[in-house]
Amino acid sequence: MSKKMWYSLTAVVMIATLVLSACGATAGGADKVEVFSWWTGGGEAAGLEAMIKVFNAQYPDTEFINAAVAGGAGTNARAVLATRLQAGDPPDSWQGHAGQELIGTYVAGKQIEPLNDLYEEQGWLDVMPETLIPLISDGGNIYSVPVNIHRANVLWYNPAVLEANGVEVPTTIDEWFAAMDTLQAAGVIPLALGEQWTKMHLMETVLLGTLGPDKYNGLWSGSTAWDSPEVTTGLENFAKAMTYANSDSASLSWQDASQLVINGDAAFNVMGDWAEGYFRELGKAPNTDYGWAATPGSDGVFQFLSDSFVLAVGAPDKEGATSWLKVAGSKEGQEAFNPVKGSICARTDCDKALFGEYLQSAMEDWSTNTVVGSLAHGVVANDSWKSEIDTALGLFVQGGDVATFQSALVAACAASGPCK
Ligand code: GAL
Repeated sequence: MSKKMWYSLTAVVMIATLVLSACGATAGGADKVEVFSWWTGGGEAAGLEAMIKVFNAQYPDTEFINAAVAGGAGTNARAVLATRLQAGDPPDSWQGHAGQELIGTYVAGKQIEPLNDLYEEQGWLDVMPETLIPLISDGGNIYSVPVNIHRANVLWYNPAVLEANGVEVPTTIDEWFAAMDTLQAAGVIPLALGEQWTKMHLMETVLLGTLGPDKYNGLWSGSTAWDSPEVTTGLENFAKAMTYANSDSASLSWQDASQLVINGDAAFNVMGDWAEGYFRELGKAPNTDYGWAATPGSDGVFQFLSDSFVLAVGAPDKEGATSWLKVAGSKEGQEAFNPVKGSICARTDCDKALFGEYLQSAMEDWSTNTVVGSLAHGVVANDSWKSEIDTALGLFVQGGDVATFQSALVAACAASGPCK
């Protein structure tokens, strides 16, 4: 073969290879996307479905694979995700909380890609709240697309049950305990509670209500000592609050516990505002079937968390994942998702009129209140610290005493928090 012929043949082979691999990228890239979350249950799946509908309309040729794993707060889902990540089998995109969960786990583990280019292309820096960006950034890179802002410190109540028992909506922890004494004496379950993560959720709101926002923040920055007397008071308040709860809490999901309030079997429930999405799905009306207030002692404070979606390192369907992230960060996607989910948009430009009374009040509070982060939902503590707190909490709810619990929390902060 002449040299010339050899060169032409090589060129043909090279071009063919390039064309084939480009076709392969399109076929394997844009035609599907696997999205992982824990939104399967009451109120939650419906929100996700609303966003998937927007996705399907915009990307009709890309199959949406909904890989959601059941279980409130992602307790089960995150375990499944960890196993998949360890096995090198990541979903293309998954739900992660803004804050330490994202930065301390997925960024630290180099499991997710920076999204700076997408932010620039989509103009998201102009529409995402400034307070949120540092919680999803590391080393100058932005790592996720926030879809919402949820509020954790909400006290839900049954207005008819309170009225029938002559109980006012409490604003302080002492008023709350007095109200629950009255309800208990009348044979009503004062406080609806569910499985363990809902107890951590209750604990963080009671700590906030006892300590106030500055000292609560200090728990996570290291400036509030975990062995201080005020933390003891906070834990005693938490222990007392739990004495008013239903005895079968361990076997109830958050939806089951919310339902006790809606059905009139219990008076109060402390839960994030995804409960509102659930109440609406059940056809319940705000102010008539359910009422809300900031958890006792936390008026003027918005304890927040934010669900966001990430792009996996080595995503099998990067193009599909990018399409999904574009929808998740878009006005249309967020306006479809949030009114159903019971959250407000992460974006600042959503149409307020699309939201019901509760969420309109949450929007107002989000822009005027003091903002602090949630423990149970990934904002303030990394996964190792949170899991040590959870272990201590588990022992405590099985009958441990406050002193032992507090020592374990001191040790957890020293081992994995800023108290070294
Ligand atoms: C939170 C999540 C919310 C909601 C809740 C209950 O962690 O951020 O969107 O799903 O769990 O499952």
